[in-house]
Amino acid sequence: MAVTTDQVVLNEWVACGWHGQVPMGQSYDTVIFGQEICVSRKGAEEYEVAVIEENGATGRTLPVQVRYTCIFTTLGNPTRPLPVIAEFDEDDRRIIGCGSVGVRTSPYRIIENFLDMAHFSFVHTNVLGAPDQTEVLAYKTEHRKDVDEIWALDCKFYQPAASTASAGGQMTDYVYRVMSPFSVMLYKNVFGDPARNDAICLFVQPMAETECLAYMPMALVDEISTPEGIIDFQQGIFLQDRIILENQRPTLLPLDPTIELPTRADASSIAFRRWLKAMNLQFGIYEKQAA
Ligand SMILES: [Fe+2]
Repeated sequence: MAVTTDQVVLNEWVACGWHGQVPMGQSYDTVIFGQEICVSRKGAEEYEVAVIEENGATGRTLPVQVRYTCIFTTLGNPTRPLPVIAEFDEDDRRIIGCGSVGVRTSPYRIIENFLDMAHFSFVHTNVLGAPDQTEVLAYKTEHRKDVDEIWALDCKFYQPAASTASAGGQMTDYVYRVMSPFSVMLYKNVFGDPARNDAICLFVQPMAETECLAYMPMALVDEISTPEGIIDFQQGIFLQDRIILENQRPTLLPLDPTIELPTRADASSIAFRRWLKAMNLQFGIYEKQAA
């Protein structure tokens, strides 16, 4: 597996594991952008990440940050910091990492699926969407240039069982926030407390162009559910998504709108692809074959 030469993606922070994945004093090998790396746990919240050379020797050490239940590193010189997600610092939140799920597709397909409400009724039937209420109402998207993020605002969807804490069907309000090509999150109104939002993240570890690990840390307002119940719910949803994601073709993401026609429900996908195109990304992008 070759290491990508795409400097744009190399300069991003990406997840390379979840905090607690190995006990103190132990390490594991993993891959980002085709580069093998070794992640060693040195202390309670202290990790060292190093490149593994082709001959198996340990190479240069990489920057590392532990945030939002995940371990982040970078092979380049990040042009953007890790995002600030204030909900994770609120004292009464349930902070839950949900481990990782392997998905064989491009990282941007995973981000796009997270942004897509149109599939709720068909893929997460009777949970995140009802079979007789499939419409995606119009919503707004914007590129926040000060932080270079894509936001989707005023999203609404009828959900029969929006979370483990919900007692029945509800109109759920969503705000989506794409924080980097490999990280996205949503704010979702809390059942029974309209003033607050649950924060649910998706961090993608791009191992190769069509091979990823996905991490889903959450900061929830929920005093009722057990951690096991929340993890089971979230992983159940994501495993339904994985089936769809791994069957999408092409697995690489086309940025040319003549290859995949967008619809009105795809406004966030259109904004996301335009943003990726402006960054001039090469890694994980589908290039139309010359006729
Ligand atoms: Fe889904």
